[in-house]
Amino acid sequence: MALDRSASRRQFLKYLSASPLLASPAALAGDGPAAGVKLNDPIMWAPLRTEDLVKSAKDAINVFDFEPVCRANVPPAHFGYMASGIDDEVTLRANREGFLKFQLRPRRLVDVSKIDMSVDLLGTTYPTPIIVAPIGGQQSFHPDGEIAVAKAAKAGNHLQILSTSTNTGVEEVSEARGAPLWYQLYATNKWEVAKAMVQRAENAGCRAVAVTVDRSGGRNQETLFRLIPTDTRDCSGCHQRSSGLAATLTRRAMYKDLDVAGLINTQSSAMTWDFLKRLRDATRMKIVIKGILAHEDAVLAADAGIDAIIVSNHGARSEDSGRSTIDALPEIVEAVRGRMPILVDSGFRRGTDIVKALCLGARAVCVGRPYIWGLGAFGQPGVERVLELLRLELYAAMQQVGAPSIKHLVPNMVRRAT
Ligand code: GLV
Repeated sequence: MALDRSASRRQFLKYLSASPLLASPAALAGDGPAAGVKLNDPIMWAPLRTEDLVKSAKDAINVFDFEPVCRANVPPAHFGYMASGIDDEVTLRANREGFLKFQLRPRRLVDVSKIDMSVDLLGTTYPTPIIVAPIGGQQSFHPDGEIAVAKAAKAGNHLQILSTSTNTGVEEVSEARGAPLWYQLYATNKWEVAKAMVQRAENAGCRAVAVTVDRSGGRNQETLFRLIPTDTRDCSGCHQRSSGLAATLTRRAMYKDLDVAGLINTQSSAMTWDFLKRLRDATRMKIVIKGILAHEDAVLAADAGIDAIIVSNHGARSEDSGRSTIDALPEIVEAVRGRMPILVDSGFRRGTDIVKALCLGARAVCVGRPYIWGLGAFGQPGVERVLELLRLELYAAMQQVGAPSIKHLVPNMVRRAT
């Protein structure tokens, strides 16, 4: 891209004069940014002021451009829910910083004039290894919610994993996507509820059930709790403090007509490997486990005949260990030894992030918050553009490392930085 130097210098000077980060040298002297200031991922001259934010999806040049627009559009409590990690958010930061621990070792003089990004996922070929990760309650970000996301996933032919906490039922979302989804399962504490949901997903044509195993306890979503009081809307129509779980379930389509008496949580703190055995007998769908971080569990999953795993720390929403998924991936790949496909998520924002994971042995990568930024910013066109940008960046990154197809992304193309 040709840059007009004087224009970019003007933009840079404008940034410097406007930047709260540079208002005082102390702001850069180890105190961290002032409260309310968010350091942008590496783009130091990305627009920060509301009036400079991208005005349409097509103007975005990377996925980060959508985040401040989403923040401006979406109620603070909803934005806070999505943005939040837990506790000190060290895992949230680690998920991004983890990619810097790995560097690429490009190969030269390889014909990369055409790139084939296609990949097989449990028997279906997709044109890219970029998967739309499950995120609940998408109407909190845009009235078109999961339907907009399904249509955007269809436009780019991405696998979409639908959350148990979807606002819209699996049948309608499947129809909008026009191809089989995978269904993410929060099993609850009641087998009958899990079984009924799984049967419903199977009847709607879902190809796999992705069982989340990493939300087994409570959590302190500090960003969310800080942003809730800044939300001045009357939220009582949807959120009644006293009715808790029951109120949540009425807004979640997959609980409709289920006997939810006795449900104490949507997650399942009591889940063990026995649940997976029981599930195997209850469905013909492929079974995927989402939330594996230790090689021991990956081996147990392979031994149990699980069809795939997702290396995930739930977008840094389930524990605050400070360990990124890109850091966890190599030990898991090594232990699994090709016995099942390994997917990975949490913190993926760039084509090079995806390339690094694939070189390290992941089959595909699920992306979450960025498409929600796109949804909150511009609805379906925003989601489409986010996915398009990721495809473009992945294509370019594969050219840069000299990999004409996914199978050419090999461990030697990546090294751990020392
Ligand atoms: C749900 O999956 C959440 O992390 O809030």
